[in-house]
Formats: sequence, structure tokens, C-alpha cells
Amino acid sequence: MDAIDDEAGGITAHVQLRLLPSHPKLRNEPSLKVDVHSAQFAALRATVERFVRSAPLQSRAFADSALSILRQIELPATMHPCVFRVEGAHLVVDHHTHRASSPNAAAAPLRVRLHAYHLRSGMERMHGATVTQLPTAQLEAAWHCLHLRDGVKSRLLSYMLVRRKLNNSAACSGLLLLHGPPGSGKTTAARALAQQGAIRNGGRGVLVHVHPELLLSKFFAESAQNVGALFERIASMATRRRNVFVLLDEVESVGLARCSSMNGAEPGDAIRVVNALLQGVDKLAPFGNVMMMATSNLAFGLEQALLDRADVSILLAAPQGNARVAVVLSAIEELVRCGIVRRADGASRARAHDALACALGSRRGMSGRRLRKMAVAALVEVFQGGGMSGEEEASISFERAVDGVIRAVERAAHEEEEEEEEEEEEEG
Ligand SMILES: Nc1ncnc2c1ncn2[C@@H]1O[C@H](COP(=O)(O)OP(=O)(O)OP(=O)(O)O)[C@@H](O)[C@H]1O
Ligand SMILES: [Mg+2]
Repeated sequence: MDAIDDEAGGITAHVQLRLLPSHPKLRNEPSLKVDVHSAQFAALRATVERFVRSAPLQSRAFADSALSILRQIELPATMHPCVFRVEGAHLVVDHHTHRASSPNAAAAPLRVRLHAYHLRSGMERMHGATVTQLPTAQLEAAWHCLHLRDGVKSRLLSYMLVRRKLNNSAACSGLLLLHGPPGSGKTTAARALAQQGAIRNGGRGVLVHVHPELLLSKFFAESAQNVGALFERIASMATRRRNVFVLLDEVESVGLARCSSMNGAEPGDAIRVVNALLQGVDKLAPFGNVMMMATSNLAFGLEQALLDRADVSILLAAPQGNARVAVVLSAIEELVRCGIVRRADGASRARAHDALACALGSRRGMSGRRLRKMAVAALVEVFQGGGMSGEEEASISFERAVDGVIRAVERAAHEEEEEEEEEEEEEG
């Protein structure tokens, strides 16, 4: 779709126009999604306005309501997604980290890329995999809710760009390996990256999420045949589709070193499966429109030939520092979207950020998954505490939810201490 590059250099803001004609609440009133760094908001607003005027939007009413919303927006004070509603249409302003290539980021010229896309809902199953049409509503928030070490997200996006450029190059296999401990966001990052790829690359794509363990069979030689047949189907898909993302999730279930046996399978059969996987990867390598992503938390045990094929390996670790607070806050944000927790103003969010930073300060090594679950644990704390009015039971306040998280964190720390003491006593 159209891309407007103001001046070169400075900050890049990706603006995504999300068209939702069939959304039940909006019906014929698509929405506009803007990702931008707040310091550049005024400049962005002008650029988006130009885009909305010139874009071949299906609905003139949408363009008009988008423009009227844009004019009414003040610079938002928070760094969290905010939703503005005006006359039935809505505009989601979703702030996230900007990429600054200049030391004087706020004064740097703004470079804006605009992508317009329709959300799609198709999903089909094939043996050992599910195929999802992209962009999908399921993955709308995934990229922005993911808080990885500095530079990891831009590395993921850069690899995606490089892969497309290296079409049919012997140097590029199209395989990205994401490894790290359980719950570090490998599967989520791969799926979210596929969504970003589809949006940034023409607005369409498919994600083939392979569950390798489903390809294994107890019958001799059948597992390798299943692996081979799946890669055949993906190769045929690649000749028809613009963007194909293949997620080989928990690849260790078929990619363990050939010398170790898999799931008690006969060693000869295990070797065949690994060979079929390697051949499959080689088959897809020449297609620049195919990007394979393998995830594993056992990278050290993976077949060396598979590790060698990965163009880039990225370690995803447990979130650190402010990223931990951001993960918890985005989990509470999800409860806000579901209507379980009430929306808060900028000042409450800032207070919540400080309180959570303090509570999480001493708790090292919590995985992203554990941190996200803190929102659920918070609800349990809040409901367990009781004494709520009818209104509070229907939707609890943001402050109460944050308080619940802090209590849940303290409880987990206390339980761990008790466990350690018991262990010491037993050893003593
Ligand atoms: N860094 C992170 N930022 C935000 N959310 C995270 C992060 N890491 C994990 N999560 C959340 O934790 C949950 C589990 O993540 P995911 O399934 O992607 O982890 P994984 O590394 O694939 O785990 P496993 O090795 O068990 O398959 C998801 O809801 C995800 O959104
Ligand atoms: Mg996973």
C-alpha cells in the first residue's frame, strides 16, 4: 500500500490503518490504528491526514470520521494504548518504543510508513499444522504486548526484511531460530512477527503453525513421510501466496540430534525424520516469500545440521527491569479490554508503574508467562479478599487490580521462602 516517507533519517513510525468493515460493533465504520512516538505526534497527525485524504479507502465516511478524530486528539500523556471514540468510529493510538537513529530523537525528522490492511478470519487445518490467514484479529495486540530485550524486536524485523531481499540466494536458508527457556515468548514472538510481516509486506499472508509432534507416527517410516508431505504442501502454497510464514514450534520433537532417539522411536526411524526435516528446510530455502521460524528450549540438543541452517539464532530470555512491569501492565490492559478491569487515567498508570517496579524489584528470573499470569493471580487475590460492591464485582478498578498483583507477587515470594526453609531443614 502507499508509503509516505517524509525526510530520510530520524525516527521511523509505523502507522497501520486497520479496516474492519465486518466488526460487529463498528459495522461499516472501520477503525484506524496509529503506532507512533508521542513526541512526534503532531507531525504524524499531519502525515496521516494526507494519507487518509489520498488513500483509496473504500468508505468515504471512514475517511471523514478518521479525519475528525485526528483533529480532536491531544498529545496523549501515557505510553500505553489509548482508545478514542468519536461518533461510532474509534481510533486506537498505540504507543510503543520508537527507533531513533539520531541522538537528538525528538528533534529528528519523522519518517512514516503507512500500511492499510483488512483483518482476515480464515483458518484451516492440515495434517500436523494449522494455517491462519494474516493479518488476523487474534494477533492484533501480540507484537505490542511483547517486551523483549533492547534491540531484539528490531533484529527480528530486520531479519524479515533481509530474508525477502535474499530470494533464491544460496547464502540464505530462510530459517530463524528462536531459543530460550520456557515461557520466554518464543511462540508469541514468531506468530507476532508473521503478523507484522504480512502487514508490512502488502497486507496479506498465511501462517503455517506446524506442531511437529503431531507428525510422528508409531508406524515405521510414516513419521518421515508425514514431514516430507507437509513441506511439499507448503512449497506448493509458496508458489501461490505472497507471504508464507512457517512456524516449526518446539522443533526439538523432530529436530533432536540424529544420534539420540526420539520418543522411544526406533533409531533408524528417528534419523529418517531428521533427514526429512532438513530436506524440507532445503526445499523451502529458495522461496524468498517463505520465512521459517523454529522455536526450541533445547537448542543445545538440536541436530547440528539444523542449527547450521539457521540464518540467525536469537536467544529470548526472561524479561528484565522495566520490561517486567510492562508485561504485567499489558496483561492488566487485556483485562481492561475484556471489561473485567476499569480503564485508568495517565496518573493512575504512572503510580501503578512505580508500585509494580518496586514489588517486582527483588523477584528475578520470572518468565514472561509467569509475569503475564500475575494478572490472573491478582483477580484471585481481589475476589478472595471479598467485600466488593455489586459495581466492583462487575468490573474492578485498575488500582485494585494492581494492588492484587502486588499481593500475588508477595504471596509467591513468601511461599518460595517457606519452601526453601523446608528444604534446608530436610537437608540439615
Ligand atoms: N517477553 C514477553 N513479553 C510479553 N509477554 C510475554 C513475554 N514472554 C512471554 N510472554 C507471554 O507468556 C505467554 C507464553 O509465551 P510463549 O508461549 O510465547 O512462550 P514460549 O517461549 O513459546 O514457551 P514454551 O517454551 O513453553 O513453548 C504468552 O501469553 C506470552 O504473551
Ligand atoms: Mg512455545
